[in-house]
Amino acid sequence: MALDEYSANAEIIGRDEINDLEAILSVSNTDVDEAIHVVEDNADSIFTWDYEKGRRPGLNKLYEKAKHAQWNGETDLPWDTDVDLEKNAALQRLQFAEFETDVTGTPLEKFSEQDFINLSIEMDNWTLSQFMHGEQGALICTAKIVETVPWIDAKYYASTQVMDEARHVEVFAKYLQEKQNGFYPINAHLKMLLDDIINDSRWDMTYLGMQIMVEGLALAAFGFMTQMTPDPLLKQLLRYVMSDEARHVAFGVLSLKEYYGGLTDAELRERQEFAFEAAVRMRDRFLQQEVWDRMGIKPAEILPMVLQDPGRGMFQQMLFSKIVPNCKKLGLLDAGDGWLRTKFTEMGVIQFEDWQDTGEEYESLQATG
Ligand SMILES: [Fe+2]
Ligand SMILES: [Fe+2]
Repeated sequence: MALDEYSANAEIIGRDEINDLEAILSVSNTDVDEAIHVVEDNADSIFTWDYEKGRRPGLNKLYEKAKHAQWNGETDLPWDTDVDLEKNAALQRLQFAEFETDVTGTPLEKFSEQDFINLSIEMDNWTLSQFMHGEQGALICTAKIVETVPWIDAKYYASTQVMDEARHVEVFAKYLQEKQNGFYPINAHLKMLLDDIINDSRWDMTYLGMQIMVEGLALAAFGFMTQMTPDPLLKQLLRYVMSDEARHVAFGVLSLKEYYGGLTDAELRERQEFAFEAAVRMRDRFLQQEVWDRMGIKPAEILPMVLQDPGRGMFQQMLFSKIVPNCKKLGLLDAGDGWLRTKFTEMGVIQFEDWQDTGEEYESLQATG
């Protein structure tokens, strides 16, 4: 297939320039009051009559591991911890200078110390809210994988992940309701991504979108928050969730490695484009446009300055530190003409390609006995 037969940026992500701020901000969540959200799922449900357990030893091992790694969100976490949001935000501010760039002439110029603390509380709340919504996406996606994957070892394993994800939604929701002041609605970019993943008729796209991209980013993000938060309850909650998440990403890597080995370059190119779309959607949501709205600041006025902050740029790149090596392990970086390598280079995240992939990492992140 000639290069020009493939999709351009505009077809994949709805804009030509990856960093077109105006285009990114033009996507916002208009249905904030909806109580349910319906997405059409176009995939077939598949029975298999091959019941031989352990035909795929890597998946079987993960399944056995998962049976022993179950924990109880109600009883295994210290919910009696007193969480002081202001104190924690102030402690975090001492650890990390909020903005290293010059704020002169921006809405932040008049910010008091208390305003910065409030901003920090809102940003944490927004981040945890998106984690919770993403976890519900994972719950739905893994239930879908149980139905659509043709291998019995994968159906078995995915069923344990459904339980894991229910627990993750449960603990984030409980934390937000009991220890914070409620939660933010789902971010429009994250919602678009989850909808696209669930919409797709091909079973491996659920894996690629959820297990590799969304969960790969979550694993890195949970790791940062575990290090940064002074709250012992949240630290332990995240440590438990991460130990499950590492297994989930490993499940994606092991399953897709086998499947992608049998695809043509043209088929792989569609997977590369999907991975790129997912990466851009996730990066778009980092702008946290809803937080600025709530703080009474127009996102378009503040974001050009925020985007220039070197500390923030580095942090955002680090969120791709699991995704890029996993895509490499799957052969997606260099398939065909190396299209995804070029895209990840444009996004400034290619430097992680030789970091540890998550095929085996779950062993070291285990939190339960
Ligand atoms: Fe999860
Ligand atoms: Fe997960």
